[in-house]
Amino acid sequence: MLEDLFSMRDKTCLVTGGSSGLGSYITRGFLDAGARRVYITSRKADACQAAAEALSEFGECIAIPGNMASLDEIERVAGELGKREDHLDVLVNNAGTAWAAPLADYPESGWDKVMELNAKTPFFLTKALAGMLSKRATPESTSSIINVTSVAGSIPAGDENYAYGASKAALDHVTTSLALRLARKNIRVNAIAPGRFYSKMTRYVSEDPKALQAEFDMIPLQRWGEDRDIAGIAVMLASQAGAFVTGEVITVDGGFKLIA
Ligand SMILES: NC(=O)c1ccc[n+]([C@@H]2O[C@H](COP(=O)([O-])OP(=O)(O)OC[C@H]3O[C@@H](n4cnc5c(N)ncnc54)[C@H](OP(=O)(O)O)[C@@H]3O)[C@@H](O)[C@H]2O)c1
Repeated sequence: MLEDLFSMRDKTCLVTGGSSGLGSYITRGFLDAGARRVYITSRKADACQAAAEALSEFGECIAIPGNMASLDEIERVAGELGKREDHLDVLVNNAGTAWAAPLADYPESGWDKVMELNAKTPFFLTKALAGMLSKRATPESTSSIINVTSVAGSIPAGDENYAYGASKAALDHVTTSLALRLARKNIRVNAIAPGRFYSKMTRYVSEDPKALQAEFDMIPLQRWGEDRDIAGIAVMLASQAGAFVTGEVITVDGGFKLIA
């Protein structure tokens, strides 16, 4: 029974920002769990293509490069997907960005860039794909949307990443309101709020042994998150194992929030 509960068999998925970091860990998890096909998007076409080829070692992975911060590109990518598939089972809104600057210098462009990709894009991509997500969804076999937010959306990070926490708090809220709206269409909407994970975004800390150790000392489970830590939760939320869960924000942070 457990194998069936966590199986991604027959599922067609789209993961934004799937070419690196958490998006690639989630994609690998879906493929390992037997997903039929996982599409990934990211801006740099070559890197997106190369990542899809590398991930295809574990199952079928296809690149549809695009800049998800643009409404035109969201429509184009959704259209491209619509030409290849008649429905979608799982959407992971993972692509995200950050901008840190001292309060006195914090630029409007940085604020807008973060808000657009982290909060606005998941909403409009969901809007563009809601029809495909509801197409085959039934009460017994729901579709699943997973928004990747952050523990920074519920606690002040203190690192002058002002727009980041605000954008993730906004996405937590979008998650609950869309969960309520889409439940009758048999689409579940949940969020994963990661703490620290190894990726390009956090390399400035992970490549500094002293700074990394200082973070380990602060985190109750004394480490950062790894690929399987995010893949496991994502597979749970996307598969039958999460069939009765909607509107939740699941924190995956090694207990960091407990001491913040
Ligand atoms: N790493 C952590 O500790 C951590 C903690 C909490 C939350 N998160 C969240 O996890 C998500 C993934 O972050 P990560 O750490 O894995 O970062 P990452 O390694 O920098 O990966 C970001 C991915 O998003 C893509 N991307 C960026 N801007 C895009 C755009 N405008 N359109 C389409 N794709 C775009 C990137 O590819 P291109 O550059 O080629 O576009 C890349 O594939 C983000 O939402 C982040 O906020 C991460």
